[in-house]
Amino acid sequence: MNITFCCAHTKAEPWLDGFREALPGSTVEVWSAGAAPADYAVVWSPPQQFFDEQPALKGAFNIGAGVDALMKLRIPPGVPVVRLDDAGMSVQMAEYVCHAVIRHFREFDIYEAEVAVSKWSFRKPRSRAEFPVGVMGLGVLGQRVAAALGQFDFPVLGWSRSPKTVADVQCFSGDDGFRDFLAATRVLVCLVPLTAETEDILNRETLARLLPGAYVINVARGGHLVDDDLIALIDGGHLSGATLDVFRVEPLPAAHPFWAHPKITVTPHTSARTQREESIAQIAAKILALQQGAPIASLAGVVDPKKGY
Ligand code: NAP
Ligand code: GLV
Repeated sequence: MNITFCCAHTKAEPWLDGFREALPGSTVEVWSAGAAPADYAVVWSPPQQFFDEQPALKGAFNIGAGVDALMKLRIPPGVPVVRLDDAGMSVQMAEYVCHAVIRHFREFDIYEAEVAVSKWSFRKPRSRAEFPVGVMGLGVLGQRVAAALGQFDFPVLGWSRSPKTVADVQCFSGDDGFRDFLAATRVLVCLVPLTAETEDILNRETLARLLPGAYVINVARGGHLVDDDLIALIDGGHLSGATLDVFRVEPLPAAHPFWAHPKITVTPHTSARTQREESIAQIAAKILALQQGAPIASLAGVVDPKKGY
């Protein structure tokens, strides 16, 4: 069994060693142009040439949850794409989002600024009931985030493409549900995949529907957010601020206004990092299952090219 590894911005050796150990007898090599066709691929943002030269893959395993970069490529028909299914990311995402929500709700950003100038003062306690948190995307990460927020007694709303029932989450779905979801949300968390349907979805019109003083947390992809619209709504007073982990251009360019905006917190796409060991274990188990005759549809995380996620 031959496995080819083609992952941008990733140190290959530890991954190759991990797959060789998990799949004894397999050949695992870094892809290079002109390499012989492999059985399976492990990928992150490969070039188009990679898929042009690998038409017979039994599976292309993405070492992230989001497949937006892959969906821009021409993938040979019949090559299934499989994304990471949690693999240690959902707990990180829950930590990040709960931290951002609580920092905003408890006004810890203001305390930080005041303590920095040795000022001892108290903020008036705020009511959780007035801070309903709306989670866009009720998938692997969104549901974990929703459950974690519920542990802190925030009212939690969720929005997905298909209708869902999730314990302790007020669920909305589809285009019609989106308006009602936004109108009831005070802290918005974006966790939908970036697709043709969700690109630019956080714009002047949608963000203006949020409750007055709303706060935006984008942990999905930069392409969801229209940057200038966010800034205009914060500066105009309808929004109170934002925590942003993902950007249209990464690294975020030095001149971008997000860096210096006093009401915007920037982190460098770090909310849920790929965990190498858990990812290798998950992908190796899926390769073994396929080798033993399991149908591709039985694997978690198989991407539907029509939906784009
Ligand atoms: P997932 O399990 O596929 O869940 C996606 C959710 O989004 C599903 O509930 C889906 O609805 C919903 N959705 C998709 N398109 C929609 C639409 N047009 N309207 C309404 N809802 C829609 O994905 P995941 O594993 O939770 O990951 C979500 C995203 O997080 C990834 O795609 C990636 O962009 C991002 N991410 C970011 C980081 C980071 O470090 N910043 C790390 C990992 C992932 P259905 O349930 O109806 O299908
Ligand atoms: C990271 O952004 C991922 O999609 O896994």
